[in-house]
Amino acid sequence: MKKIQLSDPLTFSAIAQGYWRLDGWDFTTSDLVSHMRACIDLGVTTFDTAEVYGDTICEILMGEAFRQDPSIRKQVQLVTKTGIFKQMVNGKTFGYYDTTYNRVVRSCKESLQRLGTDHIDLYLIHREDPCFDPWETGRALLDLKKEGLVLEIGVSNFDPFKFEALNQAVNGELVTNQIEWNPIQFEHFNSGMIDYLTARKIHPMAWSPLAGGRIFSKDDERAVNAMAKITEIAKRHDVEPVTVIYAWIMYHPVGAVPVVGSSRIDRLALAVDALEVHLEHYEWYEIYVASRQQVLR
Ligand SMILES: NC(=O)c1ccc[n+]([C@@H]2O[C@H](COP(=O)([O-])OP(=O)(O)OC[C@H]3O[C@@H](n4cnc5c(N)ncnc54)[C@H](OP(=O)(O)O)[C@@H]3O)[C@@H](O)[C@H]2O)c1
Repeated sequence: MKKIQLSDPLTFSAIAQGYWRLDGWDFTTSDLVSHMRACIDLGVTTFDTAEVYGDTICEILMGEAFRQDPSIRKQVQLVTKTGIFKQMVNGKTFGYYDTTYNRVVRSCKESLQRLGTDHIDLYLIHREDPCFDPWETGRALLDLKKEGLVLEIGVSNFDPFKFEALNQAVNGELVTNQIEWNPIQFEHFNSGMIDYLTARKIHPMAWSPLAGGRIFSKDDERAVNAMAKITEIAKRHDVEPVTVIYAWIMYHPVGAVPVVGSSRIDRLALAVDALEVHLEHYEWYEIYVASRQQVLR
């Protein structure tokens, strides 16, 4: 498996497995252990989760798997995130962000407990927080690194301004921005984030590479247009259309790591197949404009 080096001490597999939907997979702990082992057998050793996934259940389930087979944790790079919270207000659930010093430090220690591990390989601030002091959040992340509780730090869903602000506060130590990127989602091209990361040689992680399954929707015109072109390109290369999508994401010079969300190992294998697909340069642009959201000037 090809590797992507995020920093001196941290190297990811070129494809990562995401466990956001794990609480809906109806897996026993043994099923999850088998799933994780199958990922590792395919060379996919980078696992993504977050404290908010399943309201902490996903971290708990992963921790149970690591306890049942302690050899797994030693073979993988574990990514988790903090910053999104829910609270009952006047009988209704209210979602908000909290990236204050105490919250970040407490969340990290709670994640370590749930995951049954002594360190997290990459700890991310999950979303841009509009009420955010980069110096305070940065101090929390640096303290966690100093204590050895996290190996590296990064963010998710940040725009270039917030990324720059936090990166200044941590002396340039952010190693990724985990962003939504797929053939119908171009937010980070349009914000300049992709150019920002490419120029600084910072590798993003690409979440929802298949738009959370919406890429297959027949009711979404953008998806229908994109898939028509992707299917045509897949026939040229004699591979599955989804394989072309992963190849398209990985073709870009920013060196992104797609985070696969499927519960199925055969579908993860379709992502791994993309490492052998060599798109023509013009084919990248065919997909870029296929959903008709992007134009080439
Ligand atoms: N940082 C963030 O804010 C953020 C947000 C969302 C997600 N993420 C991360 O990104 C990961 C991936 O996100 P995602 O789950 O939305 O990814 P995705 O790969 O775009 O979508 C996966 C969904 O598509 C379905 N699917 C249908 N056909 C498929 C096929 N041929 N191949 C693969 N999947 C197919 C899967 O169902 P089956 O299980 O039945 O295959 C699954 O429900 C998450 O697990 C999480 O780790 C991060």
